[in-house]
Amino acid sequence: MSNNFKLAPSILSADFSDLQSALHICKSGGADWIHVDVMDNQFVPNLTIGPLIVKSLRPKTRKFIDVHMMVINPETLVEPFAKAGADSITFHIEATDDPNSIIDLIKSCGCKVGISLKPKTPLSDILPFLEKVDLVLVMSVEPGFGGQGFIPKSNDRILELKKYLNENCLDRVLIQVDGGIKLHNAKEIMNAGADVLVAGSEVFKADNPIQTIKEFYNLSE
Ligand code: DX5
Ligand code: ZN
Repeated sequence: MSNNFKLAPSILSADFSDLQSALHICKSGGADWIHVDVMDNQFVPNLTIGPLIVKSLRPKTRKFIDVHMMVINPETLVEPFAKAGADSITFHIEATDDPNSIIDLIKSCGCKVGISLKPKTPLSDILPFLEKVDLVLVMSVEPGFGGQGFIPKSNDRILELKKYLNENCLDRVLIQVDGGIKLHNAKEIMNAGADVLVAGSEVFKADNPIQTIKEFYNLSE
């Protein structure tokens, strides 16, 4: 298991009329990152958060703001999210023909770089870019909505990716897993090699979200 474990609650499942409470939950539970799911109604059917929301959140939290862009033309949103205060920006390999330019652009804005792939996209598609990124976001549901079930085959992908990173001296690259992560399956996903778990509905739809965050950390001990 990774001793680098981080939890990134996704505010997609929070109450959008009260995001300050979502930040309070993350702070009180001791979450490391805040995961922001950006959807454009094109790359995915849903429509969610833009840079203005990140700009509003930024002065209210010192936590690492992790922006997951599920958008077409991701290059157009890199600077707006960086200026709004994102700490890391993740784009989808399926959304671009020129991943190198987007990686360079995100770096030039001073943010950490993440590359993501949908469940049916071959792992081989992202391998050429791993040397240049800080994080790989393995989608364990089809992107678009919170509250879906974890695709069990994702654990094999995480294992395969972890092995590749180890064998190629790329251990510094974090593996983030996103979609369908619950307290009951988190340990298995960590054991497969995940460093950062995203959890939306499990945290924000819980009766006690703060306690739920703490329980995720208890699993990693
Ligand atoms: C799906 C999003 C996920 C989602 C996770 O497109 O990227 O971050 O919010 O939500 P849960 O944990 O409910 O599956
Ligand atoms: Zn996400």
